[in-house]
Amino acid sequence: MSGSPPTASELRSQALDALGQASNQDELSDWHRDVLGRQGSLGQALRNIGQLPKEERRDAGQALNQLRQELETAFNDRQDQVRADALDARLVDERIDVTLPGRTQPMGGLHPLTQMQREALDVFAHLGFQTVEGPEVEYGYYSFDMLNIPKDHPARDVWDTIFIDSGEKEITLRPHTSPMQVRTMLAQDPPVRVVVPGRCYRYEAQDATHEWHFQQIEGLAVDKHITLADLKGTLAEFARQIFGAARQVRFRCDYFPFVEPGVDLSIDCPFCDGSGCRVCSNSGWIEILGAGMVHPNVLEWSGYDPEIYSGWAFGMGIDRLTMLRYGINDIRSFYQNDLRFLRQFQRARI
Ligand code: PHE
Repeated sequence: MSGSPPTASELRSQALDALGQASNQDELSDWHRDVLGRQGSLGQALRNIGQLPKEERRDAGQALNQLRQELETAFNDRQDQVRADALDARLVDERIDVTLPGRTQPMGGLHPLTQMQREALDVFAHLGFQTVEGPEVEYGYYSFDMLNIPKDHPARDVWDTIFIDSGEKEITLRPHTSPMQVRTMLAQDPPVRVVVPGRCYRYEAQDATHEWHFQQIEGLAVDKHITLADLKGTLAEFARQIFGAARQVRFRCDYFPFVEPGVDLSIDCPFCDGSGCRVCSNSGWIEILGAGMVHPNVLEWSGYDPEIYSGWAFGMGIDRLTMLRYGINDIRSFYQNDLRFLRQFQRARI
């Protein structure tokens, strides 16, 4: 060691200077080690006392011990200060403006046809009908033969069917959901109460009321003693749930090979309450579905004894129902994926 060791007051001013410079926890730790640590400058000075003349040693020792206490206190104060500064800086840094408007998450919605389909199925569910689904690519056997529409029968032309070139077995894109009447009866014993939602296909020119694909809901109820009155009651209830409590229903004769008798069902126009308007072509009535009592042949071929069991079936277009419900005048709107159209139906999920 060269020259005389630093005095307590020299050590003091050096140490306090350095402490004032320390501005984070790392620098503070370094300072503590360099000054107050075992190998630190204060310890050195204490060890050097032995080299002083005997009469100076006591005072020098006392002065250094006082200094140690003073520096400890200064260190603690400085450390508190540094921590408080760091906290302030963080508070400023992480400040959030709770008055800023939030970022909205883009949210999808259900297609109007899906909404309508779910609503309709829900009504039938409460009336005791189970929902089942069937294939869109369907054998001609189920699309026609089993539904009492033999090959070369002119009625087959009513369903402008899209056929799949398939070799041996005739395969169709189902033109209606009625094949599921047969599939359901083949698969289970009576009683039956099912509704069948699904997409159907027809080879026809498109316009405001025709699409080459569309959606139907088929209904089928078979049991002992089922009559047309049950059909009327069920569908009247459905119409009232969907179009309002005041709705009237009207049956008229119609022809479908797989029912006997066949009917079509109209409701009094929900837009004019039956007094006549543009939507109902001034007739006061709007046709919404085809229906009838299941033909004995269909029951029998599906394994149900027509002497014991009877039933009814209906088929309705979901597209048409949705158009009526919302006053939409072009069926093609449903399939164009135009968000300006679709957004109008955005709402909370059911
Ligand atoms: N499947 C018929 C159609 O698509 C509708 C229908 C179903 C008629 C059930 C009577 C009974 O036109």
